[in-house]
Amino acid sequence: MSVISPPAVVVAQEAESFLRQCAEWLGWDHERHARRRAAVLDELARTGTYRHTPAELVLGAKLAWRNHTRCVGKLYWKTLMVRDCRRLHHPGAIAAALTTHLARAHNGGAIRPIITVFPPDTPTTPGPHIVSPQLIRYAGYEQPDGTRRGDPANTALTRLARELGWRGDGGDFDRLPVLIRDSRGDLTRHDLPPDACPDVPITHPDHPWFAELGLRWYSCPTVSDMRLEIGGVTYPAAPFTGWYVGTEIGTRNFGDRDRYDLLPVIARRLGLSTGDDRGLWKDRALTELNVAVLTSYERAGVRMLDHHTMADQFHRYVQARRRAGEEVHAEWGWIIPPTAASATPVFHDSYDPAVVSPNFFR
Ligand code: ARG
Repeated sequence: MSVISPPAVVVAQEAESFLRQCAEWLGWDHERHARRRAAVLDELARTGTYRHTPAELVLGAKLAWRNHTRCVGKLYWKTLMVRDCRRLHHPGAIAAALTTHLARAHNGGAIRPIITVFPPDTPTTPGPHIVSPQLIRYAGYEQPDGTRRGDPANTALTRLARELGWRGDGGDFDRLPVLIRDSRGDLTRHDLPPDACPDVPITHPDHPWFAELGLRWYSCPTVSDMRLEIGGVTYPAAPFTGWYVGTEIGTRNFGDRDRYDLLPVIARRLGLSTGDDRGLWKDRALTELNVAVLTSYERAGVRMLDHHTMADQFHRYVQARRRAGEEVHAEWGWIIPPTAASATPVFHDSYDPAVVSPNFFR
């Protein structure tokens, strides 16, 4: 496996720009900034890379969240908990750190925003990389007769896990192992204990039949396939967790045609005719799915926000930043909720989608 390093001048420019942000946010005086800048440029000239101090790493990870244009929850960026695992190269050690990550993120249901940073790419060695898009994913099975089980988004990942010797139970909510590619390019699979971040069973306050569907979802998402870029340094494995907005599950994961595709199922159970779109059976099914998700998480004591509250919070954050003369970078299409969009203030606003560094990339 070879590493394609960006040209040295680009790295130096990125490093200098990041150190200016450090000076601003960490309150470095002129002398301290000049000293650190000289040391970094020297290290870059000698080794082709440089090592962030723990304080720089923490700030860089927080700023990457703040700068990300596709996250409606980023107003909490200052509260991010940053775990420095840059010393861990062995896949077994990485998997153990991921288990701890999940348990700290889950926090007994009081989900905490947290990121764990593993070794960076260097000019000689790529850092380890998590192939799984999230630490928890449900397998997707395609039966020979064309019928599907589980999450179709993960059929390729499921195939890869099977090639590595994994055998699932063939159900709809069957957790896949985490796949890790180490610095040497070797791919391994790791089962993380389910109780580190348990599933929430989905029920509905008015419809007892909902429980019979056997729906469930994991407590919180941990995106694990994005690389974190800070000041010209790339961290290919830096999984991060935040709490869910209900619509991510109720509308998208459960409702999308190419995911669990549950709208026809729910509509039929609600006694609605699915023959005519003008009867709005999809809209009504979506609403009941979202009610079920929000009430189930609440009942399980797992932190989750509804899309109205989340959008209101984001809107107030943007307005406060604007009053301070600063624009929040965001992608409108990712900020508006997929359900009841126009009933939230973010639908009626527009944003500058500029991508600045530090940031997360796929
Ligand atoms: N939308 C993704 C999912 O349904 C999770 C993405 C991250 N979301 C978050 N709330 N931090 O699994």
